[in-house]
Order: sequence, then structure tokens, then C-alpha cells
Amino acid sequence: MRARLLFIAGLLALAAIAAPIALGDNGGFTPVAPASPNAEGIRDSFLFVSIFVFGIFVLVEGLLIAFIVRYRRRARPRFEDGAPIHGATKLELLWTAIPVVILFLIGAFVFIELPGIKDIPSARAGAQLEIRVTGRQFYWQYEYPNGVIAIDTMLAPAGVPVRLEVTAPDSDVIHSWWIPALGGKIDAIPGTVNETWFEVESPGVYTGQCAELCGLEHARMLASVEVMPEAEFAAWLERRRAEQDAGSGELGKETWEGVCAKCHGFSGEGGIGPKIAGSIVLSDPDAVENLVRNGRRTMPAIGSGWTSEQVEALANYLKENPPSGG
Ligand code: CUA
Repeated sequence: MRARLLFIAGLLALAAIAAPIALGDNGGFTPVAPASPNAEGIRDSFLFVSIFVFGIFVLVEGLLIAFIVRYRRRARPRFEDGAPIHGATKLELLWTAIPVVILFLIGAFVFIELPGIKDIPSARAGAQLEIRVTGRQFYWQYEYPNGVIAIDTMLAPAGVPVRLEVTAPDSDVIHSWWIPALGGKIDAIPGTVNETWFEVESPGVYTGQCAELCGLEHARMLASVEVMPEAEFAAWLERRRAEQDAGSGELGKETWEGVCAKCHGFSGEGGIGPKIAGSIVLSDPDAVENLVRNGRRTMPAIGSGWTSEQVEALANYLKENPPSGG
């Protein structure tokens, strides 16, 4: 009776695990659907390793249950020993050889996949786009080759290999760039430039977040990559360049939302940083510049190294859209 109950409980547990997988939602058990060849290589490696993991799990747990049932005490005296067994050469050879073969297969598979994960496709050299990704407390800053700056949301062209140079300022801490559908994690380390890449065929929005605990607002250090048709992207880049030259446009808003608001609240009402709505500093561009470049008390120098364009864009935005406080 108890054995049957256990069996049913086991079946239910298996069903609970299998249902989300069968429904197409991987339930967190497998990597997200890849949108870039490197993410595909990572997913394939994961699934290949999973075959052995699952097989070994079933074998070990199955034997465990079978032994529990087969060798239960029954009517034997409690302290009776089993028959002594010495050596089982065939079995020992088998349980040595099989793991060696499994490790070899996994190693070989991963080494075959690795270049496709690590190396940016070179077939269309020249057509590739480079973006500098800087992780800072608590935002992602992107710099395009023409000097355009964007924060948290990266725009990228479809069908073009995009090389990311990932780093962090010397004054900052380690962050980790991770958009699961577009490849593996890559650390943003002060003083070091790490490289990764993606190439996405179908336009769409791919989300992720900082994957290295980096401080109080780590959880809000979200990132997304918006992939659009190449012509549309080129038009955006042009427009953005012109806007930045004119000291107006989206950059100021992005900077407020991505950099200031995470600590001071979206309306400046205060959060882990103090309330700043109504502060006279916000309407004084020089004071804003001094504050973001140098920090003050516990506020870090979140804008050290910014171009004057970016500081100006923020100051202009704050003048035109003073935070309301609630
Ligand atoms: Cu940046 Cu966590």
C-alpha cells in the first residue's frame, strides 16, 4: 500500500516537471529559444549534456528504488549481514570505461561547438557593427561608432554581426552583460575589455539583465536589445546623431530614467537616493554637471567620463521636464 502511494507520488512529481516542457514553455529547465548562432551553440551543448545527465539520473534513481524494494529486510533479523562479495572485474571495468567515454563525447562536442560560440562570423567583415557596452552602477551605456549614446535599450540592425566590447569604468564594480537569447554571459570588468557578439536575423526585442551582484539596485539593471531591419536602424542612428548634435532628444530622457531615476525615483520622489524633485540643482546645468561628474557624499560619480553632449542632454531634459515628485 505504502509502495503504491510512493509510486503515485513519484509519477505526479515527474508529471509536474514534464508538463511545462511538453507545453512548449521550458519551465526554466532549458535555455531560452536562441536568436543568435552563439546562443544556439550554447543551447545545443546544454541539450547534449542533458542527454547523459538525464540517462544517469534515471539509471541511478531507478537502481536506488529497485534495490530498496529488492533487498528490503523482510523477515530477516535486523543485524544479519549480507553475503560478502570480493571483486567484480567486469563491472568495475564497465563503470570506469563508460564515464570515460561519456566525458570524451561531451568534451569533443563542446570543442566542436566552441568556435561558433566564441568567434564572430568573419564572412561579412566590414559589414559588422561595433558597440561599446559599459556596465555602471546601475545602468548599461552603449556607444556606437559615430558617437551616438544609448542607455539600457540597445538598438541593433538585423542580419549584421554586432561585436560588443564590454567594460566598466575604473571607479566602478564588476557587472555582467547577459541577454540569454543572444549568447552567454560576459563580465564587464573595470580596466578590461571583454568581447562578445550576436547576429540576429529576425527583428524583435530580446531582454536580459546584469548577471553579477553589483550593489543595491542590481536587480533593476535591466538590459534589452531591440533588433530592427538594417535600413530602419541606419535611419535611427542618423536621427539620433542629429539630435545629439542639437542637444535635444531622447538621450536626456534615457539618462534620467536609466541613471538618475533608479535611485531617486521616476518622479524624483526618492528611493535609495534622496528625494530630488523640486531641487534647485536640477534647473542649473552647471550644478547638474558638477553633481554627475563628481558625485556628492554617498552618491557616486555616475557621470564621470560622460561626453559634454550627454551631460547637456540630461540638463536640458531636466529643465524641460522637472521631476514632479509624485
Ligand atoms: Cu550591474 Cu548587477
